[in-house]
Amino acid sequence: MQATYVQPMYTVPKLADFSPASLEAASRELQSAFESEAEAIESWEQWKTFRDRWIARKNGMLSQVNELWLKAAPSPSKRDAGQHVNKLKALIEDGVDAARQHAMRVESDRDTDGIASTGRSFATAAEAIKHIYRSHTSHSLDITLPGIRRPLGAEHPVIRTMNEIVAVFRNLGYSVAEGPEVETDYYNFEALNFPPNHPARDTQDTLFIANQESKPLRDGLLLRTHTSPVQIRTMERLKPPLRIVIPGKVHRNDPMDASHSPMFHQIEGLAVDSNITFGDLKGTLDHAMKALFGSNVKTQFRPSFFPFTEPSAEMMVTCFICGGSGQRGSEPCRPCKTTGWIEILGCGMVDPNVFEFVKHNGYDPKDVSGFAFGMGIDRVALLKYGVDDIQLFFQGDVRFLEQFR
Ligand code: PHE
Repeated sequence: MQATYVQPMYTVPKLADFSPASLEAASRELQSAFESEAEAIESWEQWKTFRDRWIARKNGMLSQVNELWLKAAPSPSKRDAGQHVNKLKALIEDGVDAARQHAMRVESDRDTDGIASTGRSFATAAEAIKHIYRSHTSHSLDITLPGIRRPLGAEHPVIRTMNEIVAVFRNLGYSVAEGPEVETDYYNFEALNFPPNHPARDTQDTLFIANQESKPLRDGLLLRTHTSPVQIRTMERLKPPLRIVIPGKVHRNDPMDASHSPMFHQIEGLAVDSNITFGDLKGTLDHAMKALFGSNVKTQFRPSFFPFTEPSAEMMVTCFICGGSGQRGSEPCRPCKTTGWIEILGCGMVDPNVFEFVKHNGYDPKDVSGFAFGMGIDRVALLKYGVDDIQLFFQGDVRFLEQFR
């Protein structure tokens, strides 16, 4: 019987020295081992073994190269070793990907044409890997190579909803303003007419930044609890008339559950001019809700209280899930708790006390009036997309997010 010679598997050697010549020689040897192993792949299973052998985090060839050639390199050789290792990393990752595409093609050829055509496919695979090898070593670009598929992303449902709301107001001539998420007590509370002991300042609601005690109260930093501080910031910057929307993240110390998250999103609106009335507020918001949820939606205003608006209201819209009937077929409608109405935002006429803080920039309450509103975005997105747990929006689970493509 004839003995078959089995070529020993390549192993990453420890380097005797880290001279440029030695690094170069070791890289070449590794590259040719990689290339011949890639060319020998004949099935999906073999590709998986090949992949694990080369790029497994634990003990893959690439990790070993990192340990033995880069980490072990003495300082003067680190740079050179790093360049070699980076080049090998790119070569191996692209090569493994090219081999995957060809292994896939091979398997599908096997399914359709039977074994006969597989020889051709292996030859193509080997060709492609050679191309990649060459493109890495000679820096040329072969535009005939198949591209590398990257998974497609999608707009996050909360951001998509936010953009839709912004678009409605842009069409009404509003501009977009933004402000910081780490805010001072002055902008978040004081200039919005919050009395010193207002419950919203309480540690129950507000997340304060640590170690601010040595500062005066108004300079103390916190995570903004609403987008309203950007009303003041914008009025300090721009003279009236003003029409802006302010989308952004806000934070409150709420325990997490299916409908609460310590971080959520709001969109604020502010219109200031010489003769803005509550009628303007109602007309604008009624139009906006129809643009967002459909022309059948009705709105309703109920008295409410905010320190920075007077009078204040909360606006209800007819439930866009059940259409206002409170029932979904024979089932009670959960989102509106069978009332047919959903509370969607807080609003009101800007309190003259707020204008006092920006009077110097043309906002004398004797000359101007305005309305403001603040709307939660996440809940609208939840209802719109029929999602029953707000946590899903922020966990970053790709299986959830992919469904919005
Ligand atoms: N800032 C208020 C909140 O977060 C909402 C609001 C904004 C109310 C503007 C009136 C005017 O609850």
